[in-house]
Amino acid sequence: MSPEHFYRSYSPRQPASARYPGPGPAAQQGAAPAPMTTSTGATPPGASDAANDPLAAYRINEAPYYRAVADEVELYEAAYLARMPMMLKGPTGCGKTRFVEYMAWKLGKPLITVACNEDMTASDLVGRFLLDANGTRWQDGPLALAARHGGICYLDEIVEARQDTTVVIHPLTDARRILPLDKKGEVIHAHPDFQVVISYNPGYQSLMKDLKQSTKQRFGGLDFAYPAHEVEAEIVAHESGIGRDVAKKLVQIAERARNLKGHGLDEGISTRMLIYAGSLIERGVNPLAACRVALVRPITDDPDMRNALDSAVTTYF
Ligand SMILES: Nc1ncnc2c1ncn2[C@@H]1O[C@H](COP(=O)(O)OP(=O)(O)O)[C@@H](O)[C@H]1O
Ligand SMILES: [Mg+2]
Repeated sequence: MSPEHFYRSYSPRQPASARYPGPGPAAQQGAAPAPMTTSTGATPPGASDAANDPLAAYRINEAPYYRAVADEVELYEAAYLARMPMMLKGPTGCGKTRFVEYMAWKLGKPLITVACNEDMTASDLVGRFLLDANGTRWQDGPLALAARHGGICYLDEIVEARQDTTVVIHPLTDARRILPLDKKGEVIHAHPDFQVVISYNPGYQSLMKDLKQSTKQRFGGLDFAYPAHEVEAEIVAHESGIGRDVAKKLVQIAERARNLKGHGLDEGISTRMLIYAGSLIERGVNPLAACRVALVRPITDDPDMRNALDSAVTTYF
């Protein structure tokens, strides 16, 4: 996999300059220094973001919507101040990615997200030499980029990566805070703003696919679960545009399905799925059909389970 391909696939953000010409709101509020600002305090007109701020494309300039569920925002802020690497644990679709986007925005730090997979190599994270017309040039991978310039590097679904890939984060996630680039003969001493965050779904690991204790023990852990009833309905209503009453019904259906986890269902209906269902209803789709498409069909192929869930839906719509 070429690094260019890799960058495009793991960076969901369009260049910040395309959306917002100035420094981000958090920076404006004084939460973080604006890296593009010169000593006179002015941003040079027409200056390209990339020249002044190598992580400009990874800055989040608009506040992502995040509804705090408990004290996770305060805990994460304290962890960031201590530059403690953090592990976000919880089922898929419960808000882990949204949370880290929100925290990066709140802290005024760029966020480099890597969707981990088993084909990923250490070079995909660290970097490699590329051949071009002028010979070879080094290209930092996402981890090196974040460590060098001071970003938050979010390794999403870390257990999908092979263990020999995962160990490259070890020297960055203990007191050393270094990243040796063996092929280049350089050691990056991590920028003071740098932090590693990982996410994983504790339900999914087998013995073959789990983090080593030596990896786990480098992180602080925050548990994520589906939010409480009222809060989840608020999130679903906000994200899909449907009314609170319909959102509440969707949450009730999800709660019935979540009780079946381990009794025929591997995973319950996630907040993300409820937002999909709400979005279909908001677009005029009949609620029964919307729930079948967005909630029931994706999570089970078992005909009895489908019938059970479909009839749960009919009690609400
Ligand atoms: N606490 C929350 N505040 C705001 N939105 C949330 C929250 N929890 C979940 N969501 C919504 O659910 C969707 C799925 O969450 P996401 O962060 O992608 O899940 P995960 O990374 O845990 O798989 C998000 O896009 C967002 O719309
Ligand atoms: Mg995610």
